[in-house]
Amino acid sequence: MAGRILVLNGPNLNMMGTREPEIYGTETLADVEKRCLTLLDGTGFELDFKQSNHEGELVDRIQQAIEAHQAIIINPAAYSHSSIAILDALKMFSGPVLEVHISNIHHREAFRHKSLVTARANGVIAGFGMQGYELAVQRVLRLLG
Ligand code: DQA
Repeated sequence: MAGRILVLNGPNLNMMGTREPEIYGTETLADVEKRCLTLLDGTGFELDFKQSNHEGELVDRIQQAIEAHQAIIINPAAYSHSSIAILDALKMFSGPVLEVHISNIHHREAFRHKSLVTARANGVIAGFGMQGYELAVQRVLRLLG
């Protein structure tokens, strides 16, 4: 096994498929997880694809990833704009951290323009829809491959 990649999704992303489809599209997280798994076929990398509506649970998952995962792909959702706790947890993780936003946060309300998490991200993908997750997986494979 080459390693494990954690994909971590923040609040309300469990509602993808029905949540504001004009912004986020109609695909579900399960659809995206399947496509990410396909990308990892034959690479030796394993995927843990998680979602939580709770800031503390996201922090717990990041702390566990310090020992268990080689890379984190995170869409912190609304916590992007407020969570120093998630930023601090990511700062303890030594592998690549890629931040994904389905929508182009820079093209939306001013309060979405700033993500605190970006201070620890090796790269940010925003506005590529759900495809952003696949692009992030490809980038992780390039970085760790
Ligand atoms: C989001 C953008 C955030 O501003 C928002 O709160 C989300 C989703 C995105 O993926 O575009 O929940 O992170």
